[in-house]
Amino acid sequence: MFCESKNKSDLKFQNLKIIGQKKLKGNIKVSGAKNSSLVLLAASLLTDENLTLFNVPDLTDIEKMKHILKTLGVQLNEKNDFLEINSKKLHLCELPYDLVNGLRASFFCIGPLLTKLGEANLALPGGCKIGARPIEEHIRGLKALGATIKIDDGAVQATIKNKKKKLQGANIVLNCPSVGATETLIMAASLAEGQTIIENAAREPEIQDLCYMLNKMGAKIFGAGQSRIIIDGVKKLYGCSHKVIPDRIEAGTFLIAAAATLSSITVSPVIPNHLDSVLNKLKEAGSKITIKGNSISINTKSIKAVNIKTAPFPGFPTDLQAPFTALMSIAEGKSIISETIFENRMNHIQPLNQMGASIEVRDNTAFIQGVNQLRAQSIIGHDLRSSAAMIIAALTAGGCSTIEGLEHLDRGYEDFELKLTNIGADIIRVLKKNNNSDSPLDLNSTSQPTKNFRAA
Ligand code: EPZ
Repeated sequence: MFCESKNKSDLKFQNLKIIGQKKLKGNIKVSGAKNSSLVLLAASLLTDENLTLFNVPDLTDIEKMKHILKTLGVQLNEKNDFLEINSKKLHLCELPYDLVNGLRASFFCIGPLLTKLGEANLALPGGCKIGARPIEEHIRGLKALGATIKIDDGAVQATIKNKKKKLQGANIVLNCPSVGATETLIMAASLAEGQTIIENAAREPEIQDLCYMLNKMGAKIFGAGQSRIIIDGVKKLYGCSHKVIPDRIEAGTFLIAAAATLSSITVSPVIPNHLDSVLNKLKEAGSKITIKGNSISINTKSIKAVNIKTAPFPGFPTDLQAPFTALMSIAEGKSIISETIFENRMNHIQPLNQMGASIEVRDNTAFIQGVNQLRAQSIIGHDLRSSAAMIIAALTAGGCSTIEGLEHLDRGYEDFELKLTNIGADIIRVLKKNNNSDSPLDLNSTSQPTKNFRAA
């Protein structure tokens, strides 16, 4: 028996029991992209008209963002498979510390609040387990657009001093292709006066999804997905309907899990060119990949060691570095995996070595000597993508592993273990009783306290 991940009590007292070495076979449905949904929800603040979002995933990060929008006065109408949003009654231009600290992505609201209301007060989003996560590029760009920014006592106060309370288009060159800064500045510039050009912009698919939706709302944005984006400010943005793109990181995680268990699965829907760098590395490591329309199939008979260097899109995504490291830990030969985006994204190495992997880390680079097999262990996932990497490792290990840290996992993966058990994995989600014994979560229990979680 396994527990449907939606029946959740406090996530810190839950863990997954995984019996490894099961072959996976079948199809996995990919959910809507977390990192697109979060910024699209923030962008809903830019219009007073109805915005309808389809394919928004059921994640604890998304629940937090919805709560933040409601706190600002936004009306949210949740239907089965879509979300109706209306910001006409938006009455607050500030987000207190406990909300921002609960979800870093809430900082995406600064651009829309400032450009719509002429003012925005948000707590500084802190760092997290994977890095300091500074926001100086966001601040520099907003100042270039004419905002007056004051930062003190851990809070950002942004105002527009000119009489019209309108931001002014500007030429902005980012020092690094920051995803969040690019998205913040696109949203701020969409209602500014005049033209804004962002050079060295991030090119991620989630930014392309944001620009596609904003243009449907009446924005004039050109060059999404390239490193030079032009935004001609407009006076007003309108409502629209929009379907969130599939989550390329979720899809990539399942493909890596299939490769690690020498399985044959299909993931869909996906947009294949969002995964080019990952598919190339999986092929180089020995997997057979077949693309048919919006589905990708993988068949793996053996795993060869390959080297990875994470990079901004279209390079190898940092969000799949930990899952791919788990794969390389059982590859034939030596591999080198360099993390170039975040300064502390190697939290999965120690637990992998605890399971019998042979990995050394120097200067944010993992030097991996592949081993034949990992050992089942009780391990803790320390952040969102490390938790997924631990599950992949446990799927390959002989015996029963226990994985804790589900408060991280459920932030970014919808029904992760359910999707795996549906294609042959042996996983149950259990609730640790106070005497520390485990009992499967009651499938039918109705009183479900909301999910707790920690931000990345
Ligand atoms: C987004 O984070 C994603 N989050 C991250 O996904 C993803 O890993 C990251 O982009 C990179 O692709 C969301 O979209 C909600 P960045 P973001 O600004 O916008 C440095 C996941 O697992 N930087 O592109 O915060 C920064 O320190 C999460 O789903 C500055 O130096 O990423 C980092 O080293 C984790 N100054 C690098 O750039 C700045 O002002 C990339 O950061 C901004 C960023």
